[in-house]
Amino acid sequence: MSTHQWRGVIEEYRDLLDIPAGTPAITLGEGGTPLVTSRWLSEAGDAEVWLKVEGQNPTGSFKDRGMTAAISVAVHEGAKACVCASTGNTSASMAAYAVKAGITPIVLVPEGKIAAGKMAQAVIHGAQVIQVRGNFDDCLKLSRGLAEHYPVALVNSVNPVRLEGQKTASFEVVDRLGDAPDFHLLPVGNAGNISAYWLGYQQYAAAGKATKRPVMRAFQAEGAAPLVTGEVFPHPETKATAIRIGNPASWKLAEAAAAESGGRFASLSDTQILTAQRNLAARDGVFVEPASAAGVAGFLQDLERGESYAGKTVVITVTGHGLKDVATALESFGTLEPTVVDAEVDAAAAAAGLI
Ligand code: F0G
Repeated sequence: MSTHQWRGVIEEYRDLLDIPAGTPAITLGEGGTPLVTSRWLSEAGDAEVWLKVEGQNPTGSFKDRGMTAAISVAVHEGAKACVCASTGNTSASMAAYAVKAGITPIVLVPEGKIAAGKMAQAVIHGAQVIQVRGNFDDCLKLSRGLAEHYPVALVNSVNPVRLEGQKTASFEVVDRLGDAPDFHLLPVGNAGNISAYWLGYQQYAAAGKATKRPVMRAFQAEGAAPLVTGEVFPHPETKATAIRIGNPASWKLAEAAAAESGGRFASLSDTQILTAQRNLAARDGVFVEPASAAGVAGFLQDLERGESYAGKTVVITVTGHGLKDVATALESFGTLEPTVVDAEVDAAAAAAGLI
């Protein structure tokens, strides 16, 4: 039996990451997340469908992969404070890694548009949380401005070190499956993650660790779909608040990933996204936040539109944990009537439908 203990993505893949030699790793044990088969999706597509469950990372989203890299390098270079704009997950992750490193986290978020769990994370880790009257894109402008004029390190995914960390997810997929999948599907917001996955897949193929590179298909919410329409959304709107972004920073890199892989972008209604979220929880036992279900909703939309995945290997990244946004998850059930019984076996059995 293997006694290997996962050491976090920097130590597991250091030779493959473009970070300064000798950078000490600030890690919370991120990465090494499960790749789980999905029976209902496999049956629906007559394909082999796997979920890369990124909610299993230390702060509950894929952001930890990039954050271990960005914070480690920032601290190595002498940073005493760091800043990010966020729809919630980046800030939760940055706050945790910053305090682990002993530096000050400063978080800029759109006022009133952050899921409660994510806000709680930033606050409890002790971040300086600043709510901005504006959307994520406004916050990113401020974040860049602060880093330009004040001694704070910018750790949004415009910092290329973030992508270095995040690309380890593709390495893990290939290491687990023995080759790259035929298709990789995922949600897109600020477009760092698709860019990072594509970097990783290209690097592994070039190194001979994979015989192919997947087709990248990426999904946005209808109300925030600039990569689909080719136009900035000045007022992005969606219940999937994590991807409520109208002008993604990695726009060009994401377009290149889609074009070079033979992939594309498509959009989904909030209803499609929330239905996929519910079905993932009810059928696979995997509870993700709304935005995280966009890849699954996209897969189902493709099938409905007559796209074939038959006989193919498909990996879908589910990006963040459902517990981050319990309110939106429960909203779609309407009012929940609690079932209350006296403390008697027969009463519980009757309520459970056993008699
Ligand atoms: N899924 C979740 C749960 C996210 O939090 C994000 C982005 C994405 C998908 C999209 O990834 O931006 O790399 O295209 N969240 C950022 C944040 C913007 O601030 O937490 P992307």
